[in-house]
Amino acid sequence: MAKDPLVVGLDIGASKIAVCVGSITEGVVSLMGVTSVGHGGMKKGMIVDIEETVSALSQALEEAEKMSGFPLTHAYVSINGSHVLAQPAKGVVAVARPNGEIQSEDVGRVIDAAKTIALPQNRELIHTFPHHFTVDGQDEIRDPIGMNGIRLEVDSLIISASSAALRNLIKTVEQAGVQIDGLVYAPLATARALTTKKQRDSGVVVIDLGAGTTDFAVYEEGELIHCATLPVGSMHITNDIAIGLRTNLDVAEAIKTKYGSVLPEKIRESETINLSSLDPAEDEKVSRRQICEIIEARVAEIFHLIREQLQAIGKDALLPAGAVFTGGGSDIEGLTELARKELRLPATVGFPIAQFSGMLDKLDNPIYACAVGLVLWGVEENQSGHGNTRYDFGKMGGLFDRFRGILRNFSN
Ligand SMILES: Nc1ncnc2c1ncn2[C@@H]1O[C@H](COP(=O)(O)OP(=O)(O)OP(=O)(O)O)[C@@H](O)[C@H]1O
Ligand SMILES: [Mg+2]
Repeated sequence: MAKDPLVVGLDIGASKIAVCVGSITEGVVSLMGVTSVGHGGMKKGMIVDIEETVSALSQALEEAEKMSGFPLTHAYVSINGSHVLAQPAKGVVAVARPNGEIQSEDVGRVIDAAKTIALPQNRELIHTFPHHFTVDGQDEIRDPIGMNGIRLEVDSLIISASSAALRNLIKTVEQAGVQIDGLVYAPLATARALTTKKQRDSGVVVIDLGAGTTDFAVYEEGELIHCATLPVGSMHITNDIAIGLRTNLDVAEAIKTKYGSVLPEKIRESETINLSSLDPAEDEKVSRRQICEIIEARVAEIFHLIREQLQAIGKDALLPAGAVFTGGGSDIEGLTELARKELRLPATVGFPIAQFSGMLDKLDNPIYACAVGLVLWGVEENQSGHGNTRYDFGKMGGLFDRFRGILRNFSN
């Protein structure tokens, strides 16, 4: 049976599940449904309550089905959490051919060789990105096909995830009646939505300030060079405010979203927030500057953790296209100004760069960046003819055989 023309992105975040439905018409992605449903079934990027997550997922799908007018049976799904790890991996093979000419089959073998890197038993490979090849000692080769040599090496970046977290994610999505077209590490889908090829060529970091996690992906010369998920997000700011003021979480959340800023020095010392305006049970007045000092401390900590990782890969303050922010947490006042200071990089809040038609109003909302990126990822896979990324849980070589799709870079 022919597959329907829809490409669906399903982003299971810590605070909400987002669904984005796209279809491609004359080269433009038409957004036919964009929706989200809040849930509490996830902690630190791992599903902790399958039933609650399935129920929220079913509700989100139902809403998106109503919007798009189609049943949604398959989707590209995000995977996230600090259990996902990126690491360099090398592969080496001999090219045993009389004329010594390297063919695509050899490239496939060497990429596979890099995939067999010793992953612990409880981890699964989710992506492999070959960076460059070495032929008989000559390095930095982009495409070795057609070259002559007897020893072919590859340097790649591989991304793996905890088997248990992956298994639970797959189970949850399948229980909601959705077949998985592909699993994509969340910051890679987000970066797909928010950056141009030019930015990725010159050097950029995309940072998604989510509820439970902050994830980021670093690109240079068009390649993904590092990505990670930190177990700290905007929810931690809410917790800090609740503890600092001894208020409940709803009041703390309202304070953060209505009065929050990461630039306390710009707030008059005399400015107060009347808590009774947020909750009739409260009667205190609190200093807005003090609250913003709490927020600044947490956001500065997140920036410090990112900077440590940029230092470790030798890119601290060295990404000319700067930091591009998204995620609900990026809505806080003063974020890019603090980022410029703390990360020593140009900083902006990003918006999807691809051309879309349809429900464009939702594109301004940073909580949808990952789901939109998943749709673009899927569209690109389908167009390049390498679609229907299978998952083959537990099979040698990991979850996906993406080899044919990965030599290409993003197209725009
Ligand atoms: N104006 C605002 N200021 C600060 N934080 C905000 C604002 N609006 C929303 N948030 C926070 O953004 C978070 C939700 O963002 P998002 O939907 O991107 O997270 P998520 O995808 O569910 O989580 P994760 O990416 O960690 O899995 C919540 O913690 C919410 O409090
Ligand atoms: Mg998210």
